[in-house]
Amino acid sequence: MPAIVLIGAQWGDEGKGKATDLLGSRVDYVVKFNGGNNAGHTVVVGDEKYALHLLPSGILTPGVIPVIANGVVVDIEVLFEELDALSERGVDVSRLRVSANAHVITAYHRTLDKVTERFLGKRQIGTTGRGIGPSYADKINRVGIRIQDLFDENILRQKVEGALEQKNHMLVKVYNRRAIEVEEVVGDLLSYAERLRPMVDDTALTLHRALDDGKTVLFEGGQATMLDVDHGTYPFVTSSNATSGGAVTGSGIAPNRIDRIIAVVKAYTTRVGAGPFPTELFDESGDFLREKGFEFGTTTGRPRRTGWYDAPIARFTARINGVTDFVLTKLDVLTGLEQIPVCVAYEVDGVRFDEVPVSQSDFHHATPVYENFPGWKEDITGARAFDDLPQNAQDYVLALEAMSGARISAIGVGPDREAIVVRHDLID
Ligand code: GDP
Ligand code: IMO
Ligand code: MG
Repeated sequence: MPAIVLIGAQWGDEGKGKATDLLGSRVDYVVKFNGGNNAGHTVVVGDEKYALHLLPSGILTPGVIPVIANGVVVDIEVLFEELDALSERGVDVSRLRVSANAHVITAYHRTLDKVTERFLGKRQIGTTGRGIGPSYADKINRVGIRIQDLFDENILRQKVEGALEQKNHMLVKVYNRRAIEVEEVVGDLLSYAERLRPMVDDTALTLHRALDDGKTVLFEGGQATMLDVDHGTYPFVTSSNATSGGAVTGSGIAPNRIDRIIAVVKAYTTRVGAGPFPTELFDESGDFLREKGFEFGTTTGRPRRTGWYDAPIARFTARINGVTDFVLTKLDVLTGLEQIPVCVAYEVDGVRFDEVPVSQSDFHHATPVYENFPGWKEDITGARAFDDLPQNAQDYVLALEAMSGARISAIGVGPDREAIVVRHDLID
């Protein structure tokens, strides 16, 4: 029975939330396996618009069991705020399971995220400032605090002391900030424990049993392939594995249980924060994509950088993740353009690269080699079958499919839940 991984193909904000929501009612569990409240997923259901950060988008579907797995970093205050906000709007959030092994984001992680960015100056990453990087750094440094530590006050105090010892030296001596009190942090974390306790679970075991019982489990990635700490545009990345492998390590489900790997890819490209972006546009076409696609960050409100579709990136994503299906989103945003350029390769200092260059310096200098496709003028937001699309839109999709390394199984033609053309079933 299916375990499905759904991940972002580019630099995030591809419409993963909407794609998860699309599968919603056919899925029993939706699992967030990486990242934290750096994510921002906008899901439109009828007249209602939801912005989700820490919770998996599947929480909006009645009956689905949402899971925050071990690979996530949890800001518990944000978790409670998001749960309360959804409850107030009538969403049933009572089934949420949270891994005992997930790490927490505390006040000192948020502080460190902001001060280290400031100290990087021109070299800053443009993080979301949510404490993501410092929390993962503690995990890898083996000084992290896990959800289960909240239920043993002695252990918690020892761990917070250990984590703060070096950090306070740094904060005071290097960053000129005040030291953080151990008791302040311990007190905060303990104050969450009782409310959190009933949600805490051995989520790896729960998910194993669910799969054994024939349930459908969807692993919803935050961020995206080009922001993956190993495979993305390092150091301009997030601090987790946003690729399909992250679904395995981030949940405790073995690789041989995964049946489908769906990558969500925009019909053009966007990026928030710093780092290389070969097809980035600085002219009115870039403004057109930003305004028509409403490309402003769900988490930070920052205007997103915009550019044309990059086929070598799609192929890279197909390879790294083992993509079985693409969901192509926001095709409707391209309506009205005379010509639609697509990046088919790069040129670096006069040398052609058909694939994403492994050298980061080369990628920084890469200029796109474009092929132009004719646009269409017809409104496509009402299309529900592939044949409803104008011929030029069909040809654009088929051209992307031929270049991108996997079939395009669904096409987004608007923000609404129903605004989708399905070519191949995503669950079978
Ligand atoms: P995520 O982080 O991958 O979940 O994506 P975001 O929610 O940050 O950004 C995607 C935005 O595009 C959201 O505002 C969606 O409502 C919107 N969206 C998703 N699919 C489509 C589509 O096919 N067409 C249009 N016009 N908007 C879409
Ligand atoms: P969703 O799930 C787009 C970017 C930040 C920054 C870099 C590191 O909505 O697609 P971090 O705070 O994670 O340390 O920031 O990663 N970033 C995202 N960009 N969508 C996201 O999530 C992102 N999450 C992080 O802008 O460049
Ligand atoms: Mg987003």
